[in-house]
Amino acid sequence: MELIVVKSQLEGAKKCFDLLNEAMAGGAKTLGLATGSTPVEFYNQVVNSGLDFTDMTSVNLDEYVGLDGSNEQSYRYFMNKHFFEEKPFKENFLPNGKATDLEAEAKHYDQIIENHPIDWQILGIGQNGHIGFNEPGTPFEATTHVVDLTESTIKANARFFEHEDEVPKKAISMGLASIMKSKKIVLMAYGESKAEAIKGMIEGEKTTALPASILQDHAHVIVIADEAATSLLSK
Ligand code: PGA
Repeated sequence: MELIVVKSQLEGAKKCFDLLNEAMAGGAKTLGLATGSTPVEFYNQVVNSGLDFTDMTSVNLDEYVGLDGSNEQSYRYFMNKHFFEEKPFKENFLPNGKATDLEAEAKHYDQIIENHPIDWQILGIGQNGHIGFNEPGTPFEATTHVVDLTESTIKANARFFEHEDEVPKKAISMGLASIMKSKKIVLMAYGESKAEAIKGMIEGEKTTALPASILQDHAHVIVIADEAATSLLSK
């Protein structure tokens, strides 16, 4: 893993934007995208740039179960607002959180990933070390699956909802094995609340208790993090 320490989320976003530019210049056609507060500034950089995505495909990590794209809390809505409305793609894929058969939807999403191998994946990281919605305990072999969100994730995401009890309890997420198939990965982390997870991911043992630690086995991971998020690293 390569680590780039930045002074601010803005500096990190610019760095990430440079890496995207490089990836697209190198022929990347399919982007793996993420939601949450971490990539927002990066998406701002992208929508204000001259980059063109009309022959590109995006595949998002996850979606809440029960929410469709018209719901402001859905990840489809987030992506439309922060990225796709400004920068149209050839195709945008997110799991369908309203699918009646969620198991079939997971299989279908794996097929989408199979058909559109991800060239360049961006990730945030949860305070508990999750990537996508792969919560602690998720087997490293997992492909797309339905997830019961942990208390920690529900609490962390409650800030986007009026009441904590409105946060969906389930999501459908790309699995760790799916994420590991991406050719290149850029993970961003900002703030002290991510420091434990970053320490575990980089310096800890590889363990399903900290899902992001699987990235130690990936050959092309760049971590962009601020000083607060890297404050617990020993070196
Ligand atoms: P955040 O979430 O970007 O809102 O901090 C990251 C994550 O949970 O993966």
